[in-house]
Amino acid sequence: MENQTNILTDTFGREHTYLRISLTERCNLRCTYCMPADGILLSPKSHIMTYEEIYSIAKEFVAHGVTKIRLTGGEPLVRKDASLIMEKLATLPVELAITTNGVIVDRFIETFKKCGIKTINVSLDSLDANKNYSITRRDYFTKVYNNILLLIKEGFQVKVNCVLMKDFNDTEILDFIALTKHQSLQIRFIEFMPFDGNKWNMEKLVSLEEILKQVYAHYEPSSFIRLQDKPNDTAKNYQIKGHKGTFAVISSVTNPFCDSCNRIRLTANGQLKNCLFSTTESDILTPLREGKSIATVIEKVVFSKKRTRNGMDTLEKFKDPNSHNNRSMIAIGG
Ligand code: 5AD
Ligand code: SF4
Repeated sequence: MENQTNILTDTFGREHTYLRISLTERCNLRCTYCMPADGILLSPKSHIMTYEEIYSIAKEFVAHGVTKIRLTGGEPLVRKDASLIMEKLATLPVELAITTNGVIVDRFIETFKKCGIKTINVSLDSLDANKNYSITRRDYFTKVYNNILLLIKEGFQVKVNCVLMKDFNDTEILDFIALTKHQSLQIRFIEFMPFDGNKWNMEKLVSLEEILKQVYAHYEPSSFIRLQDKPNDTAKNYQIKGHKGTFAVISSVTNPFCDSCNRIRLTANGQLKNCLFSTTESDILTPLREGKSIATVIEKVVFSKKRTRNGMDTLEKFKDPNSHNNRSMIAIGG
């Protein structure tokens, strides 16, 4: 048995130990960079994985070596059986994490604790209520902000995801970093990425380089620390000396981190994606429902993974709109 190749190891030797499961395509926000203005056509309910199916698929992945599962959406917590799913997955020997928009996390504090969820990623793109409204098309800024503080108070490790857009919230980079002075959280600036219907163009992107330029202009070089990144970390991590929190940059566009990628994605309607940017997906739900082996589907998906961003190994290829025949982010799940 020992020589048998693990089905989660791809042709570049990357071990896929991190499964991201989208629980739903629905969301209580409408972020412009994630959801097309006209919304998306939701999958029929019968095509969405049930709670038992999510568990069965997750269990199979864990049996092959997955050690971490993150729940995403849409907004994972709007799903009626979100707590049940978390409790069931918590019985598996994995680190469980969640990415949420934070609107209703206050209702789940006990569930998170019961399930051993320690890190929670919350999306917040602006510290200005009006700007937040214009991104999310909903008025929940105060609620989300207070919920972030509540999570910190309750002892969770909170990462705040902030998608930066030129001439919009790039003026708030230093404000976000200032927040790390007294709050022990991590701010993660994310380069704006292209997905179906989000009107991406390179001019809207705020790059790692530009972010660091602002930081260098404001802070003394000696007070600016480059932290050691964790293995498989998508973020480059930094800290201002004396600050309780840290900040990071996720530079998927200008500095992809595919070489250390250990992630595989499962959409709410049971499709496996081997990359955030993959244009193809593999149905794992139908074979599961037919009682067939799902390990073969997993193996095929892992085996066909390309080296960099689904083959878009240069910025030129990445900028080409024809390369992006993908889902909307809302239907992929972060
Ligand atoms: N570009 C970069 N990040 C995005 N997210 C959603 N859409 C995009 C995009 N177009 C991030 C948000 C959210 C997470 C689920 O995915 O920060 O927190
Ligand atoms: Fe909802 Fe998150 Fe998409 Fe915003 S980014 S619409 S909160 S899923």
